Amino acid sequence: EEDPLDLMDEIDRLKKEKDATILAHYYVDGEIQDVADFCGDSLQLARDATKVTTGTIVFCGVHFMAESAKILNPEKRVLLPDLLAGCSLAESCTYPALKARQEELKAEGRDVVTVAYINTSAAVKSLCDWIVTSGNAREVIEDRVPKDKEILFVPDQHLGRYLVEVTGREMILWPGSCMVHEIFSLTDMRRAKKNNPGSEVIAHPECPQNILAESDFIGGTERLKQYVMGIEEPRTFLVATEAAMIHPLEKAAPRHTFIPVPGIMTDSGETCACNRCPHMARNTLQKTRDCLRDGKPEIEWKDYFDPAKEVLTRSLLQ
Ligand code: 13P
Ligand code: SF4
Repeated sequence: EEDPLDLMDEIDRLKKEKDATILAHYYVDGEIQDVADFCGDSLQLARDATKVTTGTIVFCGVHFMAESAKILNPEKRVLLPDLLAGCSLAESCTYPALKARQEELKAEGRDVVTVAYINTSAAVKSLCDWIVTSGNAREVIEDRVPKDKEILFVPDQHLGRYLVEVTGREMILWPGSCMVHEIFSLTDMRRAKKNNPGSEVIAHPECPQNILAESDFIGGTERLKQYVMGIEEPRTFLVATEAAMIHPLEKAAPRHTFIPVPGIMTDSGETCACNRCPHMARNTLQKTRDCLRDGKPEIEWKDYFDPAKEVLTRSLLQ
């Protein structure tokens, strides 16, 4: 085990030496966020990737995020500390499965617009009309998707259901879900509320409907942060999203108290610390250092990045 502080110093030194910029999602360990040049939600990080001026981007997050950074800034070398950092949502919707579903709907004579959550592979993005994040989904659907078109929303059924509710649009939902958000326990959340009178629940829209129904504020990670920053008097917030999010919330609004909502294992019924995303947790200080030092693993350009670039640019940058 190497000393985290030594690793952080080494990472700072290597960033200069290797002409690299570190981008980190709010769900990676706090100490990685502390050595990053940009921390943010999926939307902001995709936009930040286009502004990087160094030759290399180290993306501390998951595979689809690093792919998006490469697609939006192709001249850069984009590194991901662990190529196995995937996403249960992205995995639930494969290229052949989506293509088959689109063809099936077409054969039924239905003219659908495919809207994908950014948590999808680049190959899947290449089949889609719009890409949304938790930060811009409502606006993109309300302002840009023609009203006379039916929407096929992939891959998150919970975010999709929430978007049906807030936009009033009909959608065909894909049956995917985030392994972290889908197992939040309502019983544990109610207990935490009872134990913390006057507390407020803030939740990510990847949570199932029963959790959102008892939440006081719903938003993607950046919106949750902005919300607590806007409240002056100290409060206790129960946080129904990935537990690493507590770090940026505490940094942004240290006057408040933040308590992570625990999850529960659905099959065994046992309470566990499963509100950490195992994919995000593959990013460690050590692997970040190694990847800076060795210049790998790298995201290589693929043919389908070209159509994915078109839809990502139109959806997130224009
Ligand atoms: P946002 O930070 O865009 O809300 O994304 C949440 C998430 O689950 C990323 O994997
Ligand atoms: Fe995917 Fe959920 Fe992990 Fe985000 S938190 S990377 S949506 S599995």
